[in-house]
Amino acid sequence: MSPTLRFVLCGSVDDGKSTLLGRILQDTRQVFADEMERVAEDSRRYGTRGDAADLALLVDGLLDEREQGITIDVAYRAFETPRRRFIVADAPGHEQYTCNMATGASTAHLAVVMTDARKGILPQTARHTRIVAMLGVRHIVLAVNKMDLVDWDRDRFESIAAQYRAEVAGIGVTKVQAIPVSALTGDNLTRRGSASTWYDGPTLLEHLETVDAERPADRQPFRMPVQYVNRPNPDFRGYCGRVAAGTVSPGDQVLVSPAGTPAEVESIVVWGGERQQAARGDSVTLTLQPQVDVSRGDVIVAAGEPLEVADQFQARIVWMGDEPLTVGRPYRMKLHTQELGATVTRIRHRVGVSDGAELAAANLERNDLGVINLATTRPVPFAPFDESRALGGFILIDRATNATAGAGTITFPLMRAANLSWQAFDIDRAVRAQMKRQQARCLWLTGLSASGKSTVANLLERRLVTGGRHTYLLDGDNLRHGLNRDLGFTEADRVENIRRVAEVARLMVDAGLIVIASFISPFRSEREFARSLFEPGDFMEIFVDASVEVCARRDPKGLYARALNGEIRNFTGLSSPYERPENPDVHLDTEKLSPEQCVKLVIQQMEEVE
Ligand code: ADX
Repeated sequence: MSPTLRFVLCGSVDDGKSTLLGRILQDTRQVFADEMERVAEDSRRYGTRGDAADLALLVDGLLDEREQGITIDVAYRAFETPRRRFIVADAPGHEQYTCNMATGASTAHLAVVMTDARKGILPQTARHTRIVAMLGVRHIVLAVNKMDLVDWDRDRFESIAAQYRAEVAGIGVTKVQAIPVSALTGDNLTRRGSASTWYDGPTLLEHLETVDAERPADRQPFRMPVQYVNRPNPDFRGYCGRVAAGTVSPGDQVLVSPAGTPAEVESIVVWGGERQQAARGDSVTLTLQPQVDVSRGDVIVAAGEPLEVADQFQARIVWMGDEPLTVGRPYRMKLHTQELGATVTRIRHRVGVSDGAELAAANLERNDLGVINLATTRPVPFAPFDESRALGGFILIDRATNATAGAGTITFPLMRAANLSWQAFDIDRAVRAQMKRQQARCLWLTGLSASGKSTVANLLERRLVTGGRHTYLLDGDNLRHGLNRDLGFTEADRVENIRRVAEVARLMVDAGLIVIASFISPFRSEREFARSLFEPGDFMEIFVDASVEVCARRDPKGLYARALNGEIRNFTGLSSPYERPENPDVHLDTEKLSPEQCVKLVIQQMEEVE
């Protein structure tokens, strides 16, 4: 039997999509829902089971979010014939549902794009094709439906097929099979139609049963991203993952990317035994000789065929976040089995989905397609998406909500990370902090303007210095006079403001100082990003809390009055949001506590985690 074919069905209710799917399901054997679960489980057997948050393939990441109930609406159905097993993703295809289609397409080998014979090729037909092509689908079936309503007019069918081929030329689709069908009568779906004697091609089902839509895997070198390191006892160390390309056998010479460490494959372990070979799609555990250092996120590759490693990329992306994509905002990224931080450094353009036009864009909204530059927090082994879906597809996750914000594909690296590295010097943070007899760390004060941040920061610094500590105070107003002079108060500017401040604070902590950072820092994502730059315990988020009403009454700088008067735009708490910390390390209610009491609480907490 041929390998399971995963395909996505694109079209709207009007095109007759439900009728077509219903008929195919009726005429074949449907696999029961629980059996389908097992199919999915089987393919993930090693490493990922019971650890859903770890799923890292583009696909799995998307499925993962779907399971969390985020508004991606794709139904998966499984069915089979004696010749093949199928999984179809049924994605609602209206204009606003790009994300659904992208989700469905991310696992598909083939797409069935539906069109109505009476209407011909509509803008949405090209649009659907563009989206699925971006997600790596190379084989398309153009199902020209409702042929019965145009009297099985051969010329009509052929001109639609020709127009479609012309419109999708150059977007990465390698094979288009056009089939005239009638979902209503069932002609040319699962059985040959009597009215279309002129049509000598396959029925839809015949085509799906026989098409070889997977990309040639045999000639690609072996690649397996490590999902999980299995060490049940000191004698056994196995690396679990799913083979992304090529084949592997015991005795093969391999490299561990990105380190480049050579080793030999000792054995291939699977459920209940060992194997002599594993190929793409197989979930296996490899043991190596010698037992070199391998961690999750590394990729085991054929010797002599190393992967590229980079930390800057050009990529395409489908945006799915409720919040628009913002340049400079830190996201979490899942790329094969790696999870790391990433920032969009530039939006090159938005892609017009119907015609592929390159449109200028400052941000990308939900359902937009775009081309971006992306920087990751560390160099990662990867392959361009065109070479490997598994090693070049990624998702971006919103740090604040944990929802999938975008699905992307790496086009090419912008700079090889090998040209830049972090220098390790002999005198490090520990030495510098020790000379100052203190634990260097960052105390991050967040809260509304006039909540009391500066007062608390000032007193806190005095207490620390009196106690012999070495400190530095970074303050919003002050930094905006120099380093951040070019930034205002739009969301993007605040994101950049906090990014710079967090990086400066990190350098100062590296210099051995206790850094007090006092910034409104209204967004959770950026505060999370700041935290991510430090060792656990070296960063304390201190929420300086007072209600907007109280702050507006205090109004020491007269800003609330001016903002209420309409003189200041984007004012936090009034016309720009403040996302309250959910789990601050210290919560200071300045409506009830005096500055002295606040500082005491902070110092207590510092002593606790010392
Ligand atoms: S943040 O939002 O990017 O973290 P930051 O803490 O650097 O802000 O700067 C806030 C200070 O800028 C406030 O204390 C206030 O004095 C001043 N300010 C001027 N305009 C605004 C505004 N629209 N919103 C908030 N603060 C403003």
